[in-house]
Amino acid sequence: HALAPSAGRLRGKHVLVTAGPTHEPIDPVRYIANRSSGKQGFAIAGALAALGARVTLVAGPVTLPTPAGVDRVDVETARAMAAAVDSALPADAAVMVAAVADWRVSDAAGQKIKKEENSPALALVENPDILAGLAGSAQRPRLVVGFAAETEQVIEHAIAKRTRKGADWIVANDVSGDVMGGDANTIHLVTATGVESWEKLAKPDVARRLAERIADAL
Ligand code: CTP
Ligand code: CA
Repeated sequence: HALAPSAGRLRGKHVLVTAGPTHEPIDPVRYIANRSSGKQGFAIAGALAALGARVTLVAGPVTLPTPAGVDRVDVETARAMAAAVDSALPADAAVMVAAVADWRVSDAAGQKIKKEENSPALALVENPDILAGLAGSAQRPRLVVGFAAETEQVIEHAIAKRTRKGADWIVANDVSGDVMGGDANTIHLVTATGVESWEKLAKPDVARRLAERIADAL
């Protein structure tokens, strides 16, 4: 794609993007987190806005500037992210890049847990699956794109995830190296018709290419 003709391809479309980690409180001063930096999701939000889309970016706790032209909603927990996604609907497409915590502490303490004789045991419960919920909802966006962070059998797991979650596409990335927090990404685009493996690219280049593909699909 040439650069100039692409501009404005997504004008009039609303795209929802989730990005970053979630934080799940243990008590008022401690939380469970993961290594997501938010860089890939923020780059995707920016690339979609650069094509003229109205973009709602639901962001977990990260220290990144908001990309130009993007409406940002900051959240902390998976449940707050699910609620923010719901509030942002309807959308023409959704790109769920966030590394949502799979579990939260079932009964987070209201006060700081004090050091005592025994170490505390954390009981965990599963968080809602935001992607699967959206894909199965009455307000399902026409194009639902999930990400899959895998450390082994990357493509096999991503193909299974696409079906299991009801997504149209899964962007599978191998996070066995320094992808999380790093500046480059090696991804495989898994669709209903097959798997496309992209060469290792800088995260903004992955974002631009994916945004063009989303524009093709819409
Ligand atoms: N996802 C989500 N809500 C969750 C967990 C994951 O919306 N509670 C989304 C992520 O944003 C991503 C996709 O689901 O787009 C896949 O996330 P991933 O962690 O790879 O898959 P899981 O189904 O959680 O499986 P596992 O962590 O066991 O590999
Ligand atoms: Ca997960």
